[in-house]
This record gives sequence, C-alpha cells and structure tokens, in this order.
Amino acid sequence: MKAYSIALIPGDGIGKDVTGAAWEVLQAAAKLDGFVLEGTNFPWSCAYYQETGAMMPPDGVETLRRFDAILLGAVGWPAEVPDSVSLHGLLLPIRKQFNQYANIRPHRLLPGVQGPLRSKGFDILCIRENTEGEYSGAGGRVHSGTQHEVAVETAIFTRTGVERILRFGFEQARKRSKKLASVTKSNAQRHSMVFWDEVTREVAKDYPDVEVSHYHVDAIAARMVMAPESLDVIVASNLFGDILTDLGAAIQGGLGYAPSANINPDRNAPSMFEPVHGSAPDIAHLGIANPIAAIWSGAMMLEHLGERNAAAEIMAAVEIVTSQGIGTSAGKDPTKAITQAVLAELS
Ligand code: IPM
Ligand code: MN
Repeated sequence: MKAYSIALIPGDGIGKDVTGAAWEVLQAAAKLDGFVLEGTNFPWSCAYYQETGAMMPPDGVETLRRFDAILLGAVGWPAEVPDSVSLHGLLLPIRKQFNQYANIRPHRLLPGVQGPLRSKGFDILCIRENTEGEYSGAGGRVHSGTQHEVAVETAIFTRTGVERILRFGFEQARKRSKKLASVTKSNAQRHSMVFWDEVTREVAKDYPDVEVSHYHVDAIAARMVMAPESLDVIVASNLFGDILTDLGAAIQGGLGYAPSANINPDRNAPSMFEPVHGSAPDIAHLGIANPIAAIWSGAMMLEHLGERNAAAEIMAAVEIVTSQGIGTSAGKDPTKAITQAVLAELS
C-alpha cells in the first residue's frame, strides 16, 4: 500500500481546530482510496515560543525535509508574540528554504455559498510568487528611536524568480481557459515592475496559445469585483498576491473557504498546504471555525501527491455539504458539524 509521511503543524488558535478537521477527512479519503497517510505532529507555535524562546527548533526546517508534504493550520498569537516574530520564525522560512516559490490560491464560489457579490459566478486562480519580492527581508533600521530614524525594506525581484513564477502561471493557464493576467504597478514602480512586465513579454513568446493581459494591481482589484468573469489565472508578486487573495477569499464567501498550496514545483523539498486565513484569536475557543479552507488545502495536498481521485472525492463531498446549506455562513455551524457532514458524504 502506498504511504505518505505528512508533517502536521497545527500552529495557533483555530489552526488547531481546522487542521484536526482536515486530517480526519484526509484519513477517511485515504482509507477509501487505499493509501496511508502517516502524520507526525509538530507543536511549533506561539505557545512553543513562550516555552522555548523559538517558534521551532534550530534544525526545524531540516527536520521537515524528509516529509512528503506539510499540512499547516495557522501561525500567530499577537497578544503574546509579535506577528513579525512568529511568522519570520516559522511560516516564512519554510516557504523560502524549501523553495516553495509558487503559492496557488484558487478562489471559487462553492455551491450554496453566497458571496457578497451575490449574482456573479466567481472562479479564478491566483498564482502568488512566494519566496522573494516584497517579502525578501532585505533592509534594516538605523538611528533607532531618534528623529533621524530610517527604515528600509527593499523588494528584490530576480530574473530567475520572476521568470519561474510566470512560467508556472502560463502552465496553469494552459490547463484552464488559456488566459493569464500579469499583475504589476509599473506605472509607479519603474524598476522592478517594469522588469516584471518585460519578463512577462519574454516568457509569453513560449506560450503563444495563452492570451496575456497586463493589469496594475489597483485596477485588477476593482476588476475582481466588477467583472470577475473576465479573469481566470492571475500571476502576482508576493505582496500583491497576498492582498489580492484576501480579496479573492472575501468574494468567494470569506476566509473560511480559501485554500492555498505553497508548491515547490521542482519537488526537491516538501510543499506545504494551508488555509489562507490566520489563527483568528477572536473565535479561537468557540469551535466555530470553518474547516472548509483547511479541508480544501488538504485535497490540494493529495492532488500534489498524485492521489487525484481522493482529492476529487473530498471536493465532491465538500460541495454536496455546502449545497445542503451546511457551513455556508460564518459561525452558523460548528467546526465539528461541518467536518462530520463532509465525513458522512465521503463514506
Ligand atoms: C498569507 C498570510 C501570510 C502572508 C502572513 C501571515 C505572513 O497573510 O499566507 O496570506 O502574508 O503570506
Ligand atoms: Mn495573507
């Protein structure tokens, strides 16, 4: 029987609830399809930081390397650990050090889910650059605490980094409607973003079958609301992709539905799967977090591992559940009830 080793990092807050829910669903799908998921739990989180002084052990990333994939819940507990510490201590180094350069974020209205745009259908795929750009971490502060204090945060765009994410986007566009929207802000940012536009035009020559559009990030944000049907695959830098995918999540009904896959397309290190949402301290102990984003992220993990059938079965079960009105509005159904409904459909 095929077996996959999965590193589970539930993290903080609702991360724990939704990872538990996703794991139950994944186990059920594995049983159904005749493969094994061996999970190893890592308690790395803000609570772990408070005990040990670090979000994960110094060799944490190396420990994860032997796994086939990583399933992560959410990281952050700002009341106790500043986000800039917790995220740079766990989530962001994993994305970078495992070269998970493509962050795939599908935004689709599930049946029965009423997004705020109501009448419009919504189905776009956002490909977010995930290792450099505005998140490069290059910069510093000088003259701290004085009137002369300076803070510099340099966005770094490399030809390798920009070209590979665009190629990845074009490949995705080929699998969908052969339309790709490249997102920049090259009217204002005349170095990095003009460079991105140039690389887009170069890479596009290898994909003559794909229709390319160039949008500024502000304009595409408006278009996602006003004319989402004109968009399909969107490729954006790290920060622009971050912002647009919260917008996408909102349009698909809320953060509780938006999954994501941090992919290392070269497959020389594990990929990581996590919902777009955070740890949601405000509802963390209420048992009402929507597990659908995490379950969908788990389905993306199975697809990445080659278990397409199981992934499709999970998504079919989720869609039946939402079309029955279960898990379709924030806080209405407990995490457990939604999970049980998905499990019931699966079996
Ligand atoms: C996301 C999150 C992270 C990001 C934060 C928590 C650092 O917002 O995955 O979208 O900005 O990448
Ligand atoms: Mn985000």
